[in-house]
Amino acid sequence: MKIKNICCIGAGYVGGPTMAVIAQKCPEIKVTVVDINEKRIAAWNDDDVNNIPIYEPGLSEIVGEARGRNLFFSTNVDEAIDQADMIFISVNTPTKTYGIGKGMAADLKFIELCARQIARVSKNDKIVVEKSTLPVRTAEALKNILDNTGNGVNYQILSNPEFLAEGTAVQDLLNPDRVLIGGDIASEKGKEAVQALVDVYATWIPQKNILTTNVWSSELSKLTANAFLAQRVSSINAMSQLCEVTGADVDEVARAVGKDSRIGPKFLQSSVGFGGSCFQKDILNLVYISKSFGLNEVADYWEQVIIMNNHQKRRFAGKIVKTLYNTVAGKRIAILGWAFKKDTNDTRESAAIYVTDYLLNEQADIVVYDPKVRKEQIYADLEYLGTHSLEEIKERVTIVSSALDASKDAHAVAVLTEWDEFKKLDWETVYKGMLKPAFLFDGRRILESKTKVGIGFEFYAIGS
Ligand code: NAD
Ligand code: UDX
Repeated sequence: MKIKNICCIGAGYVGGPTMAVIAQKCPEIKVTVVDINEKRIAAWNDDDVNNIPIYEPGLSEIVGEARGRNLFFSTNVDEAIDQADMIFISVNTPTKTYGIGKGMAADLKFIELCARQIARVSKNDKIVVEKSTLPVRTAEALKNILDNTGNGVNYQILSNPEFLAEGTAVQDLLNPDRVLIGGDIASEKGKEAVQALVDVYATWIPQKNILTTNVWSSELSKLTANAFLAQRVSSINAMSQLCEVTGADVDEVARAVGKDSRIGPKFLQSSVGFGGSCFQKDILNLVYISKSFGLNEVADYWEQVIIMNNHQKRRFAGKIVKTLYNTVAGKRIAILGWAFKKDTNDTRESAAIYVTDYLLNEQADIVVYDPKVRKEQIYADLEYLGTHSLEEIKERVTIVSSALDASKDAHAVAVLTEWDEFKKLDWETVYKGMLKPAFLFDGRRILESKTKVGIGFEFYAIGS
């Protein structure tokens, strides 16, 4: 079976880039990305491709090439579902904020809405692909809804989790370590559906990198991969605190440990804590699933990764307060970087939000600079926590358009995102513009300590 028409529900950080790359690599397939968010779709369709709603290096070029040819963005969800032979579900699956599983379980309401809409609209057989990250066995619920509320057409459900990381999404999609496809491989129809998706990816990805499994293994592998990655960050961050009290240096420890080929060098960069829309959400989900099966030891084991991460964010903010003579009330503190990592405009769960909130509790005056994040987003992120009113936030938090403006007259500067431009910043000028003693806190370990101390800064880097 050859796929000719793909619909993707959800034009977000995953749906947008993933479909853009499929469209670029498979010009014979019509790819339509749909979303209920009209503003988002309008931005994807903006005449100027630089205004697409997601910043990812290399993405606007790909969208520019494929859009209008075989890549389309639309709010007409029904029409796209009707025309497609394969439907990707790429909607958000955030942590539940209400009811049973509040603060832990994945909220599957958007997934269920998609399933009901697909069932209502479809008039011919469809392959439905779970692209969103989902709790293991969600495909079962999807199949139930589709089969019981549909028009008697046949559905094959595949799980095809996405492993791209933000900031490197395009490269990750062009050159993935692996593509994972789970399906009902015990049945002929299931095998056919798996093969149809394998054929799409095989256009540009070597067959040996396309893994096929049963659906449950695929769903669970995604949660497992994120848990393992986050666990490495929490492990090195735990060590960072031990380094600080023993005189060891966390980069040296990471290098020594990472040279062991069994451990490997990646994901050992100590930081102010991991952020992003996935790690925390997916681990909480894993913890919830484990508990719901009565596996309390398994749940506790993974929960510790989150506990450590929260500790890291809090202790970094606490270090700023303690170093500034135990009070930051009325002091100007510059926050450099708001995104959860460099090369993205995504701020979900960014450490900067929590560190700033903590400093606001201490009545600090905050000045933020980030090269890609919009002002309204920063205010919305702080307001969402619910600890301070928007009025208070606007009074205490100023957003400026350069790192030099942020640091002018500041008591302290804290680097929270590892943007390359912060490495190249004219730190002498920053120093001159600050109040003295000038405190510099490096939450990403991107600044060389000796040089900064040489300039005159009171310098602290997490992990040494
Ligand atoms: P996102 O919030 O950026 O995008 C989701 C989009 O779905 C939104 O634009 C929303 O309006 C739309 N949507 C929700 N319900 C809809 C409906 N019923 N009909 C049409 N559109 C609807 O989310 P994201 O970051 O792209 O993540 C999507 C999924 O992919 C999540 O499950 C996430 O865990 C997973 N994932 C994310 C990443 C990442 O780096 N962001 C990586 C791998 C996997
Ligand atoms: C992650 C997974 O890497 C990706 O495979 C999955 O599909 C989605 O979740 P993402 O959250 O976009 O991707 O970025 P990632 O590079 O994993 O970074 C997550 C957070 O961990 C960031 O805040 C980053 O700064 C932090 N991090 C990462 C560290 O602090 N140290 C490291 O060594 C690596």
